[in-house]
Amino acid sequence: MRVLLFSARPYDRREFTAANARIGHDLSFVEARLGAETLSLAAGYEAVCTFVNDTLDASVLRRLADGGTRLIALRCAGFNQVDVRAAAGLGLTVVRVPAYAPHAVAEHAAGLVLTLNRKFHRAYNRVRDDNFLIDGLEGFDLYGKTVGVVGAGRIGRVFVRIMLGFGFGCRVLVHDPQFCAGDACIEGASLATLPELFAAADIVSLHCPLTPETHHLIGAQALARMKPGAMLINTSRGGLLDTAAVIGALKSGHLGALGLDVYEQEGDLFYEDLSSSVVTDDVFQRLLTFPNVVVTAHQAFFTREALAAIADTTLANIAAFGAGRPIPNRVLPDLLREASVSHEGTGCAPGAAGDGVPPLGCATDGK
Ligand code: NAI
Repeated sequence: MRVLLFSARPYDRREFTAANARIGHDLSFVEARLGAETLSLAAGYEAVCTFVNDTLDASVLRRLADGGTRLIALRCAGFNQVDVRAAAGLGLTVVRVPAYAPHAVAEHAAGLVLTLNRKFHRAYNRVRDDNFLIDGLEGFDLYGKTVGVVGAGRIGRVFVRIMLGFGFGCRVLVHDPQFCAGDACIEGASLATLPELFAAADIVSLHCPLTPETHHLIGAQALARMKPGAMLINTSRGGLLDTAAVIGALKSGHLGALGLDVYEQEGDLFYEDLSSSVVTDDVFQRLLTFPNVVVTAHQAFFTREALAAIADTTLANIAAFGAGRPIPNRVLPDLLREASVSHEGTGCAPGAAGDGVPPLGCATDGK
């Protein structure tokens, strides 16, 4: 198939070209993001392949369909950037890569925890400046602290295991409506309601998808429920946080530290070199002024293993579509409902099969 990859960085070109040697699609790459201004590039391509910050709203999708595109191949897990219902109405097939980097993202989240706790970001700069004072770099033992994990899917489950592990030895609370209320998760993690989790956790890490229900999950009310001095980590999607409320909590000192790999308005910033420009996003710039905030630019997935898996799965999705075979990674409007499970609990269904991450094991005996 003729496929145009938007937002293609050199590493995308490298991995997709290598993986395609075994498959033989006709691949083209552009660095431009997909949006109203760049749509014309897609004319004549049966498939377009996009990443997290490409625009796939109803108007873009309509014009893609008019131009002959039949397949949208997302090379990411999240699909909040796609108007899935509009795509279905236009007869466009949408596919994604549901599981490619659970370890990469969970390890990055753990890295943010360690960085913020032990102030690696500040220590690095101090030592390079020949300032060997350690005043202000004091952290705390993670051992025995309580970690709250919101969303125990593929990534959240790996993060739970890291924090429970023999080394860190944290107590872990999990909130995920997929698990049965009243049940406990084996391996030492316990289920909690969101208010219970916020009240008890020294560290809160978000691993649920962005859906209408989880939009601004962390706002003023949730922040007020958190322990004074708690650390908040978001490697999931920027829209989970009400950034203005988070800044308020940082200013008051109630929120002790913030680690972000995602930002609600990241589409205007991330994956661009703006070092010679004036960044006009005052909210983002304010975040960067806090010594207890670390931001990475949506790189949690970015490991060799994840890039290879993304290329392999995306090309296999495209091949299945081209050959008219069933496509296991299709994004259908039903998936929106599944991703947006309610806080009330929907039954005991811990984890998807075949994603390489064993389920936490939701026990029905309360153990
Ligand atoms: P997953 O679909 O395996 O797990 C998501 C879990 O969140 C599910 O168990 C679901 O029941 C739970 N959930 C849904 N609504 C919830 C709610 N209201 N409260 C608590 N839990 C809720 O997804 P996976 O693979 O673990 O990815 C999680 C998120 O990580 C993705 O949605 C994506 O936004 C983000 N991500 C970030 C990357 C990065 O580079 N920063 C890379 C890949 C994914």
